[in-house]
Amino acid sequence: MNAAQIKLIKESWVNVVIHVEKAGAVFYNKLFTLYPEIKPLFKNDIVSQDRKLIHAVAVMITKLDKLDDLRKELHSLASRHIYYGVKPEHFRAFKVAFMAMLEEALQKQWSANLKQAWEELFDLIAQAMIEDMKAIAAEQKAQKQEKKIPTNSYATLRK
Ligand code: HEM
Repeated sequence: MNAAQIKLIKESWVNVVIHVEKAGAVFYNKLFTLYPEIKPLFKNDIVSQDRKLIHAVAVMITKLDKLDDLRKELHSLASRHIYYGVKPEHFRAFKVAFMAMLEEALQKQWSANLKQAWEELFDLIAQAMIEDMKAIAAEQKAQKQEKKIPTNSYATLRK
């Protein structure tokens, strides 16, 4: 992402935040209409959820100039998303709904450049989260197998 794109994103996000309720509703309506199989993952109140999403994106945007900080934030978000049952393939659906929400919220400002900047930001976030989710899942699997080793070795020793 270049500086001009970061600027475009920051300027446009303000207009999403001032219509946070509408933006959140558009996002989740789109997500659940297009991908109803995703809905059961969401166990809590959607209104508070969309506030959290909009807030999280706002925090990420402030960290676009400090990518190390952003990486840390995404790592902990990724580990929570494993717990929520989110899978890497869900990010494509999330992106479709997220881009549709932006287009609707930013009607007058919407342009090819703005679309590209947002797509790049979404892909950067999604890629980092997916990588972290895969690494955490692999670590958890290895730890489970490690735990099994003493029992097996004990059984082998007794033979
Ligand atoms: C751009 C990527 C994403 C961002 C920034 C994001 C952000 C968030 C935030 C801030 C929360 C609030 C709780 C927390 O902080 O742990 C949350 C919860 C959640 N997210 Fe995401 N998320 C992303 C991608 C996804 C995807 C791809 C899915 C799958 C459909 C998903 C499903 C969920 C679920 C199920 C919850 C918990 C909802 C509940 O408690 O009912 N998220 N997300």
